[in-house]
Amino acid sequence: MRVGILTGGGDCPGLNAVIRAVVRKGIFHHQDEFVGFIEGWRGVVENKTRPLTIDAVSGILHLGGTILRTSRTNPRKMEGGIDKCLATIKANNLDALITIGGDDTQGVANALLEKGVKIVGVPKTIDNDLSGTDACFGFDTAVSIATEAIDRLHSTAEAHNRVIVCEVMGRDAGWIAITSGIAGGADVIFVPEKPIDLDEAVKILKYRHGHGKLFSIVVVAEGAKLPGTDQQATHGAKLDAFGHARLSGIAQTVAEMIEEKTGYETRYVSLGHTQRGGTPTAYDRMLATRYGTAAIDLVHQGKFGRLVVLRGTQITNIPLADAIAKTRTIGDDLIALAAGLQPDF
Ligand code: F6P
Repeated sequence: MRVGILTGGGDCPGLNAVIRAVVRKGIFHHQDEFVGFIEGWRGVVENKTRPLTIDAVSGILHLGGTILRTSRTNPRKMEGGIDKCLATIKANNLDALITIGGDDTQGVANALLEKGVKIVGVPKTIDNDLSGTDACFGFDTAVSIATEAIDRLHSTAEAHNRVIVCEVMGRDAGWIAITSGIAGGADVIFVPEKPIDLDEAVKILKYRHGHGKLFSIVVVAEGAKLPGTDQQATHGAKLDAFGHARLSGIAQTVAEMIEEKTGYETRYVSLGHTQRGGTPTAYDRMLATRYGTAAIDLVHQGKFGRLVVLRGTQITNIPLADAIAKTRTIGDDLIALAAGLQPDF
């Protein structure tokens, strides 16, 4: 079969591992040919491709980023965008298309599916918030990076008797914040799922000071709502092609409020794209490899319109549309786990 592959949306450690797994299993076991689309849906709209051979995917397993590059191009927002995609798929004689991406990428995939394109999706987002799967590759790497950063912030915060507020990614869900916060021993963790309670946070920080701990670490997800509002902190008013604002600034606001309310010297840092860069963890390489081989196997079973997912320890698949239906937020159990480690006022 001739199979197209694309990586769309924000990049994510493990994308290359998926591409490699699809191509190796497809060529070695199904005698497939692969066409890689450059920069996500942009490559499909503009018919920009590169062949994906065994040589092309050699030596990429451990690399971050994506050899196909990526973009947030949204054909549905472009004049004739979906028709251009259909024309490219026809021009390349594709029997199937594997879309590696989050809800935005899979939303476009679903629109093409409805036009008869044979698609299998692979879930991707470091935010880990795609419904239908228990885990997205890239999340474990992001959490490891954030946890290491939180460990490092401890020593400098302690040396200076400071509070340090650390902003991590997580647009609509606090998976990275709650996981790295708990793993890194943060004193306060703010997530998008729960309004920021500064008074509660101040009590925790003061309790620590009263018990000889003159420093504290606060972790905040970029998507947490500004205290007392339903708004997220954004950088400028520009939206991307999928209607998302650029999130930034919650750590600064929270740090200023904490300093004002406690009198403790407070600094902030935003980890930003460092969480998405560099080599994937072994867990993410493994998950990405399992997803990639499952995706090409589904193509050969003729099971289109499906998304490969992890349920418990098993790889299975669900309808593509289910994955984009809603965001998977963190549960009360994790919020309770974090709260249980702090005093009960
Ligand atoms: O969706 C994943 C994500 O990493 C979000 O957490 C973050 O808000 C966004 O991507 C950043 O995207 P960009 O690469 O466009 O700055």
